[in-house]
Amino acid sequence: MRFPVSEPLADGSARCLVVDADPGVREALTCLLEAQGFSCDSASSGLEALRHLSRDRDLPLVVSDLKVPDLDGFRLLAELHDRSPDAAVILMSDAADAPTAVECMRQGASDFLVKPISLHELEARVTSALEKRALILRNRFYQQHLESRLQTQGNRIKELFLQGVQLLARALEAKDAYTRGHSIRVSHYAVATARAIGLEDGALDDIRLGGELHDIGKIGTREAVLHKPGRLTEAEQGQIREHVTLGEQMLSPLAHESPTVLRCVRSHHERMDGRGFPDGLAGNRIPIEARIIAVADAFDAMTTLRPYRAPLAPEAALGELRRVSGSQLDADVVLAFGDVFPQLQALVPA
Ligand SMILES: [Fe+2]
Repeated sequence: MRFPVSEPLADGSARCLVVDADPGVREALTCLLEAQGFSCDSASSGLEALRHLSRDRDLPLVVSDLKVPDLDGFRLLAELHDRSPDAAVILMSDAADAPTAVECMRQGASDFLVKPISLHELEARVTSALEKRALILRNRFYQQHLESRLQTQGNRIKELFLQGVQLLARALEAKDAYTRGHSIRVSHYAVATARAIGLEDGALDDIRLGGELHDIGKIGTREAVLHKPGRLTEAEQGQIREHVTLGEQMLSPLAHESPTVLRCVRSHHERMDGRGFPDGLAGNRIPIEARIIAVADAFDAMTTLRPYRAPLAPEAALGELRRVSGSQLDADVVLAFGDVFPQLQALVPA
């Protein structure tokens, strides 16, 4: 049998499955498609076609009669898509079955041809179906590639921002000798306490960062106030208090991705009795992360040298935490801190 010769559609590596009960039709289609550069397999029934597809899930093209032994057209199409979801499927039908073939197109067939088939028409439909398939695959690739690049860039921007604010935290410690190492210790104490309470993974990461950055707003506090050895005036206390809101503003780019970190910064000076700042929140209205940072912060403040007093011994500081448990600090968090206290003592500065 001779076929019209035109430019091949495929390069010899493209595979195709021809499904038809009539051996003459299978042979004719196979010859045409091989002349177009396809490497063809053929099947005489639906079940035989499915066995082929199970072995070759990336098959690009299937040309199948609508009525093949074992499976009707809808079932065959569903099974084809299930096994080889990216295959372009061209169905062939008798004129009487054309409405069924149209319905098959609604359900995902690429095209259909009415028998008897013009070989030129088949060639044109194959071209069109493969172009459509290539477009779908290309769009999907670009979409996935773009999403992946956006994700990578977003992560990089967040990483750079965090590196920047962590540098600021180090700069704050360089500015204020009395808080040197404070943020890192608070972070360690808070994470250990949070773990004892039962928080895990992402929540622990946020608390780790929240601990490191909780006092970042003090970078905006005047050194004369920050280092003042004597009692602070009302106005100076006000300036110190501003560090929580200033810190929250500085970290606002994290608002969407790490809101917990912002809550740690804003609310770590709230008190259980509602007498803290900046919002006067009480009890459980204070975010749990901030209640944890508050305990860690209080412990570190008591166990390190301050301009106005000598450090307390760790056991004495733990006793003080217990004394203000329930009024200033969350009682459950203080209990959890007490549980991990033996492993934290080594971190207390000598
Ligand atoms: Fe603070």
